[in-house]
Amino acid sequence: MGRPDPSELQKVVDFAAREAGEYLETLADRPVRDPRADEVAARFGGSLPEQGVGAIQTLEELVAGFDGAVHSAGPKFFHFVDGGVTPAALGADWLASTTDQNPGAWVSTPLAARLEQISIEWLKDLFGLPASMGGVLTTGATMANFVALACARRWCAARVGIDVDEAGVAAAPPITVLGGGYTHPSDIKALGMLGVGRARVQKLSRDAVGRVDLVAMEAALHELDGAPAIVIGSAGEVNAGDFDPLNEMADLAERSGAWFHIDGAFGLFAGLSPRTKHLVEGVERADSVIADGHKWLNVPYENGFAFVRDQALLPAVFGGAGAAYLPDVDEPQPNWGYRGPEMSRRARSFPVWATLRAYGREGHQAIVEHDLDLAQHLAGMIDAAPDLERLAEVPLNVVCFRYRPPGSEDGPELDDLNRRIGEAAITDGRVFFGSTIYDGRVAFRPAIVNWRAREQDVALVAEVVRELGTRFNA
Ligand SMILES: Cc1ncc(COP(=O)(O)O)c(C=O)c1O
Repeated sequence: MGRPDPSELQKVVDFAAREAGEYLETLADRPVRDPRADEVAARFGGSLPEQGVGAIQTLEELVAGFDGAVHSAGPKFFHFVDGGVTPAALGADWLASTTDQNPGAWVSTPLAARLEQISIEWLKDLFGLPASMGGVLTTGATMANFVALACARRWCAARVGIDVDEAGVAAAPPITVLGGGYTHPSDIKALGMLGVGRARVQKLSRDAVGRVDLVAMEAALHELDGAPAIVIGSAGEVNAGDFDPLNEMADLAERSGAWFHIDGAFGLFAGLSPRTKHLVEGVERADSVIADGHKWLNVPYENGFAFVRDQALLPAVFGGAGAAYLPDVDEPQPNWGYRGPEMSRRARSFPVWATLRAYGREGHQAIVEHDLDLAQHLAGMIDAAPDLERLAEVPLNVVCFRYRPPGSEDGPELDDLNRRIGEAAITDGRVFFGSTIYDGRVAFRPAIVNWRAREQDVALVAEVVRELGTRFNA
């Protein structure tokens, strides 16, 4: 086989459409993970082909490897916080690859650049954020945190007259970062990448669950006496879907002149339903807020959003040094490569715009509420089962629980039993959910963010835990 040939294109599109259709048709019924997944993945290898095998054979090999994939787009995947993909988002994402647009510069794609602008406007409206905020689409929540915290870093240094993006972090005073125990590793990773320093983060919690200690935070801010500080609020923590008290944290940040950042990777979606909106009260007061598209918006990887109160910070941080062949940073039409970390970038706006256009505010509220209902359904099943113990309230979409046979003692043996169940559930593969440590105990934390999940799917979580628990406890 030689070079790519235009005659392959239609065949490839037909092949991919047919295979994708069959895959999606069977997705809801197949186990999440085939027991041979590792073995199937290991079949791929060999040295770099001198002569390729051509497009269709290559795609056939890829499809033959699907048993090595984990079917996380389907309705039975509750591990991590991985969303599914709405039909409109899927179609638009395919078309993003087909048209291969690069909205780094408006001139290279007015369409994708304009749709990013619209996506940002619609998302602010959806989440109840001030229309005046700036925003940008990123690869996910970690890069959204990076964008937001880069703006925070610039703002902190500017207060003492330093342009940190020009002079570098060594020229700027250190920044203290204060959060509760819910602070996600993603925020800490972003702070490390930014040179703020991972060790500059103080997690102030008042209990083993990680609930924020506001008294300690107030004292720490007082002690800082106006020195540069960032307060991080968590809107949706990963073990039980709890929220930091955002309004109180906003008050503390405001009083002490700190930057207030909110990580709402999935929890920001609480604002879509009147049932959960109270959880995100105060979000509109943040200096920066982030969320993920590939979680509860149900658009494909990779997709996240960063919003910043002072829009001018985005081009100030990411505008770069410029070059004669590139557009001007100050052009009125957005060159998105100047508002986020990447210069060239994918048309992430296609699936975001498409799913919001196709289903609107009501459709996305319905997705959130459907998943809220499923979380309550699972919580009810757990409460009714004599050998399952729920460990936390279910304010949103994460259900934290463990296997606990009647009469069993809290302690290392029970933790060990639950650890074994968690490991076995992954290889079992009928349904997928993760383990964690919650309040010092090994627990499960299924997180429901897929529009396709059904009652029978969440029920399977409880059934598999009970089945494995009974087996290991025999
Ligand atoms: C609260 C929170 N922040 C950040 C992240 C990181 O998101 P991503 O994997 O999209 O970078 C996650 C992922 O689960 C999360 O739950």
